[in-house]
Amino acid sequence: MNAFAIEQEEKKQLPARYQKMAPEELTSRIWQAKKALGNDLVIMGHHYQRDDVIQFADHRGDSLKLAQIAAAEREATYVVFCGVHFMAETADILTTDEQAVVLPDLQAGCSMADMADIDDLEEAWEVIERDFGETVIPVTYVNSTAAIKAFVGRHGGLTCTSSNAENVLQWCFEQKERVLFLPDQHLGRNTAVKFGIPLEQMIVWNPLRGAYDDVSGDLTATKVILWKGHCSVHQTFTVDHIRQYRERDPEFRILVHPECCYDVVQAADDDGSTDYIIKQIQRAPAGSKWAIGTEVNLVQRLAHEHPDVTVRLLSQTMCSCLTMNRIDQPHLLWVLESLLDGKVINRIQVADDVAREAKTALDRMLALV
Ligand code: 13P
Ligand code: SF4
Repeated sequence: MNAFAIEQEEKKQLPARYQKMAPEELTSRIWQAKKALGNDLVIMGHHYQRDDVIQFADHRGDSLKLAQIAAAEREATYVVFCGVHFMAETADILTTDEQAVVLPDLQAGCSMADMADIDDLEEAWEVIERDFGETVIPVTYVNSTAAIKAFVGRHGGLTCTSSNAENVLQWCFEQKERVLFLPDQHLGRNTAVKFGIPLEQMIVWNPLRGAYDDVSGDLTATKVILWKGHCSVHQTFTVDHIRQYRERDPEFRILVHPECCYDVVQAADDDGSTDYIIKQIQRAPAGSKWAIGTEVNLVQRLAHEHPDVTVRLLSQTMCSCLTMNRIDQPHLLWVLESLLDGKVINRIQVADDVAREAKTALDRMLALV
């Protein structure tokens, strides 16, 4: 089947028949649709996806691995992306025009990505250029819109993920004296600290005020400008959770994602990207105990896949990424059966001019990894 030969439809609501379908029927029809689409289809799934969805993924990964796979995938006409909007945009930028990337539910966004708006960034950049001249290179976490990636590409910068943020910062400081890091202030701060940059040399740009937070006087020592964005899921982990775990059972090792705030990362025993967390549990000795500060679907899956190790969520409350969880079996079946009917629904398509510059930023990162 060819992407051009089939009809493309505007955004539509999930038909009621899919909402009412029994779980067994959904599961068996998704397998059937996947089989019928054969090599025309590839399904990608982020580690934070629910179990009942990730089981269908041909490729499971963190955002870096999925971007690498998208950049290499040339066979499938349809890439159905079980993740969030910015990941599907990245896949669209890295695949060819002949391939269609589909996000089963268009409401699956990322609140952190929404915290960096392109107009706010243009405004911030004017001030930053006024204050620091041409000494600043912009870096954006991939959790950002294609427009932000394009800005960064246009200004000599690049993207990063939580897996390669240190390498990316290293590259940046080889190019320029200072870095603007967006949209996650916590990943930016935690990575810069690992890099030996003291907190006093970091300032925070607050896009809501259009100004730096808590800055008075001389800016010349500044090395990193952090965009004031965050992940609401990872913000729920606190130093108190760590203290409570340690009081209950000191054998627990505390492992957190660097999207958690600085105090939590400092108080933990270890921190690292989604990929790092998975690898730490894979190589953990039998009988060891871990409390993990990241998205609950991943933590529960790790617990299930490694019964010889005790794996728990660091917080008592469910830290689930609600937008990731919007991708469910009814939406997945809907987009697959639509493809079988010759209709591409919920396609993610980045405008050509934006995609070109965003690809520059992504390619610089992929060349570094
Ligand atoms: P990774 O870069 O580790 O895949 O994480 C993406 C994400 O959204 C974490 O909240
Ligand atoms: Fe965005 Fe946080 Fe969800 Fe990751 S976990 S997709 S950063 S809201």
